[in-house]
Amino acid sequence: MKKSKLVFCILLLVIFEANMGCKAKPDTSVNASVDRKWWKEAVVYQIYPRSFKDSDGDGIGDLKGIISKLDYIKSLGINVVWLNPIYSSPNDDNGYDVSDYRNIMKDFGTMADFDLLLKGLHERGIKLVMDLVVNHSSDEHAWFKQSKSSRNSPYRDYYHWWNAERVKPAPRYSLFDVNHDAWKYDSLTNAYYLHYFSRKQPDLNWENPKLRQEVYDIMKFWAAKGIDGFRLDAFQFAAKDTSFPVFPKGYENDFVKYYAMGPHLHDYLKEMYQQVFSKYDVMSVAEGAGNSFQDAHDLVDAERNELNMAYAFEGVDIAKVNGYSLLHFKEVFSRWDSAFAEKGWLSVFLANHDQARLVSRFGNDSAAYREVSSKMLSTFLMTMRGTPYYYNGDELGMTNAGFTNISEYRDMPTLNEYQHQKNIGGDMQQFMKRIQFECRDNGRTPFQWNNTANAGFTTGTPWININPNYTSINEASQENDPNSVLLYFRNIVKLRSQHLELVYGKYQLLDKDNPKIYAYTRELNGSKILVLLNFTSSLEKPNIPVDISKAKLLIDNYGSSPNDGKLRPYEAVVYQL
Ligand code: GLC
Repeated sequence: MKKSKLVFCILLLVIFEANMGCKAKPDTSVNASVDRKWWKEAVVYQIYPRSFKDSDGDGIGDLKGIISKLDYIKSLGINVVWLNPIYSSPNDDNGYDVSDYRNIMKDFGTMADFDLLLKGLHERGIKLVMDLVVNHSSDEHAWFKQSKSSRNSPYRDYYHWWNAERVKPAPRYSLFDVNHDAWKYDSLTNAYYLHYFSRKQPDLNWENPKLRQEVYDIMKFWAAKGIDGFRLDAFQFAAKDTSFPVFPKGYENDFVKYYAMGPHLHDYLKEMYQQVFSKYDVMSVAEGAGNSFQDAHDLVDAERNELNMAYAFEGVDIAKVNGYSLLHFKEVFSRWDSAFAEKGWLSVFLANHDQARLVSRFGNDSAAYREVSSKMLSTFLMTMRGTPYYYNGDELGMTNAGFTNISEYRDMPTLNEYQHQKNIGGDMQQFMKRIQFECRDNGRTPFQWNNTANAGFTTGTPWININPNYTSINEASQENDPNSVLLYFRNIVKLRSQHLELVYGKYQLLDKDNPKIYAYTRELNGSKILVLLNFTSSLEKPNIPVDISKAKLLIDNYGSSPNDGKLRPYEAVVYQL
């Protein structure tokens, strides 16, 4: 080596070492202590397109309707939208029965509308996550039409068929069927097909590599359009033991244990990762997280190269018609947090399109406490570790409609269950009481934009009745009210976006045995935030080892800080310690 080259190399080495020396000093920046990702720092706003905004007067929300509200969506401060399915569908299950994965449902508009929507979101710095419904398709999908036409069809193995001349298949429970029977006999080929959901939602056969490739191609089609993520509907059920073994008696009461995380599910996810997720900057979240923390971790631990985020139901399932216990609530959320403290990432949510309304289930929707308890619940969701998922309309504190007549319900599984209960002589009064509280139609009544006819949702006849309280609970009136649930929501979202402690910070439960108050801290790199939430309608005093008098108040859902250390009904306070 020439002398000049050698000198140059030594010089480089010296500079390199000097730099390394600099790096070797402890780095206390956030970037050094956590694995930052855009999808961890996101707040996801879920839009149920059918009920958001109708642009053409047919009574059904549509893409142009969403486009007309883009500035409103932006104003919330959220940065990801999750859209429930918008693909072609005969609508047995409101779009969760897809008949063409590369087209838009007629009720919702056209692909040109979709392209405009995606552009409009991106122009506003908002990403789009699409629902991917591939545990099953519609029975009106071309694949199924082919599949059922003949035992020799090249599409036969896209679905699960059981020839009727064999012994009867082992029973499988259907979540949506009127008889709860997941095997439907089809006389054309003298065989049964499998449907975990409704008869019009035959399960796809993930064991068939051709089917899997079709799905990856569909995903690439949407990813190439520029979407930013996928929510994998019911995917924990996709893999099956196709010998269909007999399950123990009563398995249907715990069907997730038998249906979820079937053989090869992880192989399929790894394949999906290789073919799709690794090639695009998209986030991925599966609905459901198996039966244990181990299952949940196996889905999302980063080094496994499967999915990004777990979406577990234990929290959202706590609220029941007879109420729930805060101690239970705290225990569940603390347990999940601690299981994911070191590895993996969680979604945090208390509502979605499969649930009744947030404030009616977890808060108090009476006139006196609806607003304050809605704000308190938003505070909870925006101050936990994990990515918050927030369902449209909850930012107004929309409530359950609680329809009393079955004719007002639209949800297919609810109508099937009503028939089922009648068939078996069930207690119909009890059934009606239950659905008034928990039917998912409660969360699907149209968005309440203003106090004009049909809440400003449509000029036509809405596909489902509007909650009559739209005259007082609506977006327009809340825009003008400085104390509204909506304005508070914007503020609490902003607070989260300004404090990485709330995204990544260590969570510590305080006052563990207090059945009325949920208190915790979130701490990152020495900066600590305290959250105090009163889950009751009484005045309560937290028992916490913290001197609040010197703390800085970041937000209070009453607008001002409590000065006697007590929390007013449903009060939520956040301090910087
Ligand atoms: C998921 C969806 C739900 C749908 C079901 C069948 O659970 O969230 O809305 O009915 O899958 O696709």
